[in-house]
Amino acid sequence: MGQSKSFTSRRARHTIVGNWKMNHKLADVAGFFKNACDASYSWDCEAWIAPQFIHIPDALSLATNSKIKIGAQNCSDKTAGALTGEISPACLKDLGAHFVIIGHSERRQIFHETHDQLQAKAKLALELGLHVIFCVGETLSDRESGNTFKVLEKQIAESLAPLVQGASKELFSKLLIAYEPVWAIGTGKVATGSEANEAHHFIRQTLLKYNLPGIDLPILYGGSVKKDNIDELLSFEDIDGSLVGGASLLASDFAGLCQKALRGQNKRM
Ligand code: PGA
Repeated sequence: MGQSKSFTSRRARHTIVGNWKMNHKLADVAGFFKNACDASYSWDCEAWIAPQFIHIPDALSLATNSKIKIGAQNCSDKTAGALTGEISPACLKDLGAHFVIIGHSERRQIFHETHDQLQAKAKLALELGLHVIFCVGETLSDRESGNTFKVLEKQIAESLAPLVQGASKELFSKLLIAYEPVWAIGTGKVATGSEANEAHHFIRQTLLKYNLPGIDLPILYGGSVKKDNIDELLSFEDIDGSLVGGASLLASDFAGLCQKALRGQNKRM
């Protein structure tokens, strides 16, 4: 624990991202931002929310008076074309979205997204100037069979490492990683701070191994993060914030996590 010598200004602020998944109707979205804007929260961390696609324009306008940035939970790997039902990252950028989550385990498992598709999505979104939160994480059976690091390395090697070819360093300036052990998502089981930090440290080393910017790049932890466990997680040097599902749906809960991120940040400075 404590401050790393490599701790750069890019990682100096925690980033707390709410992934709303397929939850909330428009009235709930409006209620969230009304509460978030009304309350005297300081939002001194990076506070980002990913609503359903259909609510992004409303969320962007409702968030105008807050410091909350709005993004998407997924996008296409193409900018335009005959792809019924897909959402173009170019249109997300055009709307004013700040970021997109790529490779969430629900996209990998339920929608069978492949490493190649995820690579193409991440590349295109980064090239268009969106921040990309790229998710990696092992299943319970991977962990129990001792394959956690092997799986994490494969996810990085097959989806992110190929992006280095011919790319400028600038391309990665908007990349963040989210370590989300699949067994901890929505289950109430959370990785301990030291388990998460060990994985984050491994991810950082693996990024370096593949010539990706492993030191500067923010790595968020996701999986059953709540107000009771965020302090411990954020006290670790390699944990730069959190990707939060269930505990991001109410403004009071989300703001509570952001306030704690601020305190965690103070602890490390
Ligand atoms: P959870 O979800 O916080 O509800 O576990 C996290 C995620 O899926 O990003």
